[in-house]
Amino acid sequence: MTDALTMEARYALAIASLRLFGQEHLLRFWDSLSTQQRGQLLAQIEKLQLQLVRETFANRSEHRHHGTPQEALIVRADSQMRTEARLAGEAMLRAGEVCCFTVAGGQGTRLGFDGPKGLYPATPVTKRCLFAVFAEAIAATQSRYGCRVPWYVMTSPLNHEATVAAFKRENWFGLLPEDVRLITQGTMPSLDDEGKILLASRGEVALNPDGHGGSLRAIALSGALRDMQTRGIKTISYFQVDNPLARVCDPLFLGLHQGHPQSSGEMSSKAVPKVSADEKVGVFAVVDGRTTVLEYSDLSRELSESRGGDGKLRFGAGNLAVHAISVEFAARLSGDGSKFALPFHRAHKRVPFMDPVSGEMVEPTAPNAWKLESFVFDAIGFARSAIVVEVDRAEEFAPIKNAHGADSPASSNAAQTERAARWLEAAGVKVPRRADGTPDCNLEISSSTALDAEALHRVPLPPSIARGATLAL
Ligand code: UTP
Repeated sequence: MTDALTMEARYALAIASLRLFGQEHLLRFWDSLSTQQRGQLLAQIEKLQLQLVRETFANRSEHRHHGTPQEALIVRADSQMRTEARLAGEAMLRAGEVCCFTVAGGQGTRLGFDGPKGLYPATPVTKRCLFAVFAEAIAATQSRYGCRVPWYVMTSPLNHEATVAAFKRENWFGLLPEDVRLITQGTMPSLDDEGKILLASRGEVALNPDGHGGSLRAIALSGALRDMQTRGIKTISYFQVDNPLARVCDPLFLGLHQGHPQSSGEMSSKAVPKVSADEKVGVFAVVDGRTTVLEYSDLSRELSESRGGDGKLRFGAGNLAVHAISVEFAARLSGDGSKFALPFHRAHKRVPFMDPVSGEMVEPTAPNAWKLESFVFDAIGFARSAIVVEVDRAEEFAPIKNAHGADSPASSNAAQTERAARWLEAAGVKVPRRADGTPDCNLEISSSTALDAEALHRVPLPPSIARGATLAL
């Protein structure tokens, strides 16, 4: 009886607040739901931030910024600065002050892989998955610097269970279980063009992960931030799950982040030069006095094509989505997680939904819904000063986003092979190349063999590689 009353009371509260925001259709199938389904649906509805959802949707401007973008200051360190920074970064690692943070809560819709993207077989020869690639790099960093590097991985409620199961099955990819922590990000509802929240089924709201910016809230709410503070972690090495060439805990970058005269040590970013004006990658810029990333859709054609006196694209520093973030800054931004500093943005995406009138499932073939997401790079503008460090694209960028074409498994494998070829050539190995300069072989170098090009010099290597060969080191 008490349960039934509670459910009734909850229903009454839910329908009242939904009516206030024109979202009462979410309870249209109430009568056909079981008690359990009703409880689950109410729990979802109670968590919806209806006021915030309405405000974000009402902010219809596709362009997030109003001021004229200015070029961001890009750090290109000279050799003395590099040496000093690398030593400083190595000292940070030796002191055990650095942790890794991977955002792996995305839905990976463009890739279309069935499962968490971190489990995608990403390497060219052994087909190791992305989580395994990063775990190897973390293990190699730990043994090189004699330190522990805790790894925090952010999942979403949509892929958390599958990710946890995989980490258990794979024995934490060789790392100590107590040094790996999987935390879950929040969700936001998906909306139709009228701002109505979509249903995923009769008793379920269509929810999407709240964007990689949700990481700053998730680390506070999950207790990860407290865990970092207890362990004496001062700096977070942040990267995305979809770039197998991301250099985790790069000492040079960490040292610049901490010691560069223009860095507040709060949040630093890596950039790679864009390959062309129309490459679909966000770029660093200063808008309204704040360093931020402009999505390619936010930049007019004129600005994206404009060049400086040196002939280079003015907005040519592509966002690598690799950051160094101080734990103190993250704590300041996220507080206890209840108030969230980063804004939400709208993105038009394809979302299957249940028609609230007919009760039929609809599988759209084109974008039909608005997802509300926050972006981690919006945090950069909150730093007192933030540096953007340009790095070599061939060394650090091979994202897997799409099933085919640019940023696909094929292009990523080619980029991984190219980096391995460069490292081998630098170590004196003859690598066969085709007429267009690409390696005529399939190569893979694990971080446990060599964490960087210099380390490969200490590994026994063949004098040359045969044309068409496949080699995993
Ligand atoms: P993307 O913006 O490439 O999105 O995420 P995605 O969800 O992986 O792929 P699509 O757009 O559905 O095809 C960049 C990085 O941010 C993480 C992703 O896991 C990826 O590492 N991310 C994205 C999250 O962790 N949570 C989110 O809500 C969104």
